[in-house]
Amino acid sequence: MDSPPPTDPDLLEKVINLAKRRGFIFPSAEIYGGFRSTYDYGPLGVNMLRNVKQAWWFAMVQMRDDIVGLDAAILGPPAIWAASGHLETFTDPLVDCKRCKERWREDKIDGVCPNCGSTEFTEPRAFNLMFKTQAGPVEGEGATAYLRPETAQGIFTNFANVLASTRKKPPFGIAQIGKSFRNEITPQNFVFRTREFEQMEMEYFVPPADAETWYRYWIKFRYDWYVGLGIPPELLRLHEHAPEDLSHYSKGTTDVEFLFPWGWDELEGVANRGDYDLTQHANASGVRLEYFDQGTSERYVPYTIEPAAGATRAMMAFLLAAYHEDEVEGETRTVLRLDWRLAANQVAILPLSKKPELESASREVLSVLAPHFTCDYDVTQSIGRRYRRQDEVGTPFCVTVDFETLEDRAVTVRDRDTTEQTRVKIDDLVADIRRRTGQS
Ligand code: GAP
Repeated sequence: MDSPPPTDPDLLEKVINLAKRRGFIFPSAEIYGGFRSTYDYGPLGVNMLRNVKQAWWFAMVQMRDDIVGLDAAILGPPAIWAASGHLETFTDPLVDCKRCKERWREDKIDGVCPNCGSTEFTEPRAFNLMFKTQAGPVEGEGATAYLRPETAQGIFTNFANVLASTRKKPPFGIAQIGKSFRNEITPQNFVFRTREFEQMEMEYFVPPADAETWYRYWIKFRYDWYVGLGIPPELLRLHEHAPEDLSHYSKGTTDVEFLFPWGWDELEGVANRGDYDLTQHANASGVRLEYFDQGTSERYVPYTIEPAAGATRAMMAFLLAAYHEDEVEGETRTVLRLDWRLAANQVAILPLSKKPELESASREVLSVLAPHFTCDYDVTQSIGRRYRRQDEVGTPFCVTVDFETLEDRAVTVRDRDTTEQTRVKIDDLVADIRRRTGQS
């Protein structure tokens, strides 16, 4: 992997620290010593993750009449995973270090044990990444279930249901956001690779002859989505897989890659899955999964183009790309330059002092803004400190209520990026912030 050095060698540590300190992402089960690379999303993190997912849903479903949503079950019977190929091929090569007995994913360690430096390993064996469990009170093969390792299969198994209930015709898509689970051998790099994570996937069903065109369309659309939400193009690139590196189902895959602190790595994959999934599920279930075009009397199995993104991984990339340190009034400040749509708090309301006469005016400002923007209300510490705390979590706008507000019914709006301050009437506040965020 050719990787230009990150500009700040401590960037990853800084973002992990900030995420914990300010309530974005906590190590899970921390009071019990943590639990194997699982993470919990705190008060700010849950807002931001919801915003990432909302931005995806907005672009992929709300703004399109050719894509519908779905929320399928996480638990599934073995039949799904046998048909999809996951039972047989969803494996990573597992090796044991002969000296220290640690287990590693062979393709991630360059022949040297990261724990003890030994170069002697057992022969690699295929380790299936799916979490297996039992459904119901009776144990045994009949009760075996799996936690889904991707959201995609719930879309394929509902193809006929969606077609019948919506009367959509190709090209059309089904989109889903939700948790997926993979028993990764070596989860690593914070929330980049975890055993429990969230995906945002869309399966776009097209006439086979149009598959290549739509494949190219979705690569560009998905790349542009990240740029549109503020990731600089120099931190993004497209990587087309060589034919020998393709997954068992794929006729072509292009990754959108992000320049993570350890180098270029996958943010999202866009794949041309051909008719693999619908054919597999049709053969295994005995249910026809095809489209009958009444205009041409043609019956065919659509090809699927799949943009598959990680919500949690995308959130990490947005945090890394947004992290900046600059100088304001002779002091270094940390600022997350997040797009306003992703910011955990979009507006912070800051009464200049704790004096009771400012409280009712500040509460009024909060009630005006809260229906339109995610708001924080903060009366602690000096105003300068509060600005810094909001900058550090990426709040695009701070609204200060001062004693003049009681006279002129105006407040000061401070812009996170320019630190410019403007006086705005309370009655114009919603319109003013809408204008600043390009909404009107
Ligand atoms: N349906 C195709 C599919 O699941 P994938 O490349 O295995 O493709 C898609 O996963 C995206 O899901 C990845 O690009 C990544 O963003 C996210 N992802 C996959 N495994 C992950 C993990 N262990 N932790 C966090 N995100 C993960």
